[in-house]
Amino acid sequence: MSTQDTIESVRDTFRTDSKQIENDPEKFESIKIKYLGRKGLVADLFSNIPKVATDLRPKYGKDLNELKNEISSFFNNNKAQYLDTKIDSTDNSLPGPKFKIGNEHPIQKTLDEIKNIFINLGFSIAYGPEIDDDFHNFSALNFPEEHPARDMQDTFFIEEDIVLRTHTSNVQVHLMEEKDPPLRYIVPGRVYRNESISFKSYCLFHQIEGLYVDKNVSFADHKAILEYFVKKMFGLNTKMRFRPSFFPFTEPSAEVDIWSEKRGQWLEILGSGMVDPEVFKSVNIDEKIWSGFAFGLGVERICMLKYEIDDIRLLYQGDIRFLEQF
Ligand code: PHE
Repeated sequence: MSTQDTIESVRDTFRTDSKQIENDPEKFESIKIKYLGRKGLVADLFSNIPKVATDLRPKYGKDLNELKNEISSFFNNNKAQYLDTKIDSTDNSLPGPKFKIGNEHPIQKTLDEIKNIFINLGFSIAYGPEIDDDFHNFSALNFPEEHPARDMQDTFFIEEDIVLRTHTSNVQVHLMEEKDPPLRYIVPGRVYRNESISFKSYCLFHQIEGLYVDKNVSFADHKAILEYFVKKMFGLNTKMRFRPSFFPFTEPSAEVDIWSEKRGQWLEILGSGMVDPEVFKSVNIDEKIWSGFAFGLGVERICMLKYEIDDIRLLYQGDIRFLEQF
């Protein structure tokens, strides 16, 4: 066999072998070594150069270089196609992907701030049912039978006698039924009212009820606690006022307004008053020994004032662009 023939036969076997790689990419490396390895077929042909007759040597060298280029470019051009799946492209030294942990909802923030203020004053936290009977939501709180708050307009009824609570005051009744005074509780929770939805009212919202029952509790105590709360929550220079009001379960009753510089008007943030003796009677607490005050804070109102939000519906839309600001 002439030296020229060996070049051609290596080219032929290579063309057959390279077809095999198409069917079986695993062979890529071994076939590459068979031809281009240090002891491979191409290297063999190079080592034959001294044996080639001098006059044929230039052509042999040229043909051999062509063969080598053909084979090398095959492996270079197909590397990506056959080997990429096997290359692990993970760089473990790169920092991991950032993941979003979300934002605390402004209502939750407000609830936590309010809770902390009262916890520091020695109040404990209690919870009660959102679905309750007429007795706890109304009757025990001294609402007369025909009181408009019981009307279908305001209250979501589940059954004739069962309602979605319209305020957290139902938990005042549960607490006084279950525990003996002295009592010092705050009760955060959701409440429901069948009101038309607008920028200032929503069918559900949050309240924090407060209940303080002890001996010789006075209206001045009640005022002092709420004043302290307002200054802690909104700052020492906040303008506030107690406005006489009426609730069936407190006597006397008041509402607290805060002056909003932004809106140029007073905004109501809570209702309060001295626990009505009728309420003590309905839970068998001796109204001659015990006295107390109660209050109900509107969490959305406080949140909107504090964070200057002017539409309550924003708090319930779950819009990330809004929530990310807090
Ligand atoms: N429950 C009343 C309301 O929802 C607020 C309130 C609570 C008033 C406690 C007085 C005492 O409007």
